[in-house]
Amino acid sequence: MPDLVLRDVVVTAPGDDDVVILRPTTLTLTEHRVALVGANGSGKSTLARLLNGLVEPSAGTVTVDGLDTVRDGAAVRRRVGFVFTDPGAQLVMPTAAEDVALSLRRTVRDAAERRLRAVEVLDGYGLGHLADVSVQSLSGGQKQMLALAGVLAAGPDVVVADEPTTLLDRRNTRSIGDALLSMRQQLVLVTHDLDLAARCDRVLVVADGQVVHDGDPAEAVARYCAEVDAS
Ligand SMILES: Nc1ncnc2c1ncn2[C@@H]1O[C@H](COP(=O)(O)OP(=O)(O)OP(=O)(O)O)[C@@H](O)[C@H]1O
Ligand SMILES: [Mg+2]
Repeated sequence: MPDLVLRDVVVTAPGDDDVVILRPTTLTLTEHRVALVGANGSGKSTLARLLNGLVEPSAGTVTVDGLDTVRDGAAVRRRVGFVFTDPGAQLVMPTAAEDVALSLRRTVRDAAERRLRAVEVLDGYGLGHLADVSVQSLSGGQKQMLALAGVLAAGPDVVVADEPTTLLDRRNTRSIGDALLSMRQQLVLVTHDLDLAARCDRVLVVADGQVVHDGDPAEAVARYCAEVDAS
């Protein structure tokens, strides 16, 4: 698995160094599936966004297999795909096939070939019959599956997903959760779904801008729940 390394990372609010969003953090993530859990506003998205350079550290460094997320930003973003909570944030093309084809443009030069490959990719996610349907007409679950298919079609080594199931019903939560957890790519998953978190290989509990528990999924989830219940 790729090495995701945070060294002495601090994040402060843009324009105000006195507001610390992420306190000094040093971490190495090499597990196949890592979950980030914690309260609203604790810093999970900030931590997740650091991994592909969407957020830059105010101090310290973040590297992906030795590539610096600031200095080597473009190379990092080719390796690290990002799935947002709202798939509408990343589906930019009119149809599903065009959206996946956009992700394939670096690897498949010929437009006709790219279209065929895009439909194959969609078939693999049970979306083949929707290839030429307007993205706007897809259901929330279909849109999120399409967003994930598009991210994976670009060939990343790591997928960071920030609450990818929050807007979904139970069935689609399971479909997207299963798809994420069965990928060969390394996964960093921000989630409030503690069952999904417990299925990962490592769980980080974030509170007040720092990682407060880290390790065995069942134990970390149990400690998070106990702390919430006691507060
Ligand atoms: N650009 C910014 N400017 C100022 N404050 C910010 C900025 N980005 C994040 N914050 C603050 O940092 C804290 C952590 O935010 P973050 O989005 O990382 O939390 P989160 O754990 O993902 O929360 P949620 O579960 O609600 O998504 C919050 O208090 C937030 O208001
Ligand atoms: Mg968040």
